Amino acid sequence: SNDNMPREEGFDHTLQLLKEGYHFILNRENRFQSRVFETTLLAEDAICLVGKKEAELFYDNDKFIRKGAAPKRLQKTLFGEGGVQGLDGIQHRQRKEMFLFLMNEESLMAVKTILRDEWKKEFTQSLKEINVYEAAKNVLARTALRWTGIPFERSEEWVEELSPMYEYASNVGIRHYQSRRARKKAEEWMFELIRDLRTGNLHADPKSAFHRFTWQRNAENELLDEEVVAVELLNLLRPITAVSVYVTFLILAVHEFPNEADLLRGEAKSDMLEPFVEEVRRYYPFFPFVVARVKNDFEWNGYTFPKDTLTLLDLYGTNHDPDIWSEPNRFNPERFMNWDKNLFAFIPQGGGQVDKGHRCPGEQMTVEILKTTLDFFVNDIRYTLPEQDLSYSMNDIPSLPVSNLLIHHVTFV
Ligand code: HEM
Repeated sequence: SNDNMPREEGFDHTLQLLKEGYHFILNRENRFQSRVFETTLLAEDAICLVGKKEAELFYDNDKFIRKGAAPKRLQKTLFGEGGVQGLDGIQHRQRKEMFLFLMNEESLMAVKTILRDEWKKEFTQSLKEINVYEAAKNVLARTALRWTGIPFERSEEWVEELSPMYEYASNVGIRHYQSRRARKKAEEWMFELIRDLRTGNLHADPKSAFHRFTWQRNAENELLDEEVVAVELLNLLRPITAVSVYVTFLILAVHEFPNEADLLRGEAKSDMLEPFVEEVRRYYPFFPFVVARVKNDFEWNGYTFPKDTLTLLDLYGTNHDPDIWSEPNRFNPERFMNWDKNLFAFIPQGGGQVDKGHRCPGEQMTVEILKTTLDFFVNDIRYTLPEQDLSYSMNDIPSLPVSNLLIHHVTFV
């Protein structure tokens, strides 16, 4: 272990991490007055980092790698095994390209068109009482299936399996096993579809992600294993469905901050949608931190980072760091109006350059999904909020308003 780094004593702090959730690293940063400290997680030494310079360090590919970083229990649930998250170097660059290839303007436009259509469909079916989180999951899972070109018939079954993968990923006990079972089932469905496409029993649009991933070749000109294709297709379906968590906070923000929301209706509307969405992604909790391992021993700012050490970068904490954000706990979309787009300061979906490192390739798509949804809720429909418990915990990962956000009396404008 490390003799020059502030260190939290005690045997293991995994339980505190689960209990303190989003504030685990911030609480310790305040206690140690340091943006770098050491603790023990899952029975091993772990270094925690928070802040802009620290994020820059974490995303230096010469210093950190991803191989063997994610805990096994998260690979069995959230990420899957063999996917882009655990690759390094040239292998990672090539696999990442496969995702980034999909994120062109035409395909982002297509997502928005499908999404609007699915929101309308969802609200035409039921207008009386809507659970925004559940509705968003359905809408987004259907959008994801249509956009990826995966056969749509079982869309309701898909929602059932896609959500436990991220909802219960950090749980222990029975929910952990529900999450594992959901992944297994979804991967099996996916194998079947990939095999059918490869043997010609099924057809897909050649431009679709389903077609492209199924026929993707690696550097040796071999098709990717069907297990890997399944994991990577789920790396599209699962997070698109999970944008429902942000959708729920987005509509909560419209309610909690009516003055800021008013600006979304006026003439400046098209200028304000994006800053509002960005502030939602900064302000509310979602992805708490990312993990890597030290590639080789190195020194930084007087601290020793020993090879192989598990290292966490606090995303939530960096997005609330007072050295970066004035009044970090105030919801203020205007802070994003002249935003310099620093790659290491605003990191709700990871930091650094998207093509060279592990930053989320779905970030732009997430922003577009949220802008379209916000415009729809603010300008295309009217609704009321019944009495309900809108509080959300800073300990549950992911966190959601207790009521999941209920709306009543929806009418189209
Ligand atoms: C990676 C968050 C939406 C696909 C990541 C990372 C985070 C993240 C924190 C890891 C960054 C790192 O390891 O350094 C989120 C959040 C989302 C979201 C909060 C909102 C729901 C999406 C969407 C897609 C997507 C919509 C696909 C359409 C991926 C993939 C990776 C990734 C494939 C792995 C990238 C790599 O390892 O190189 N995301 N994401 N995500 N995300 Fe997202």
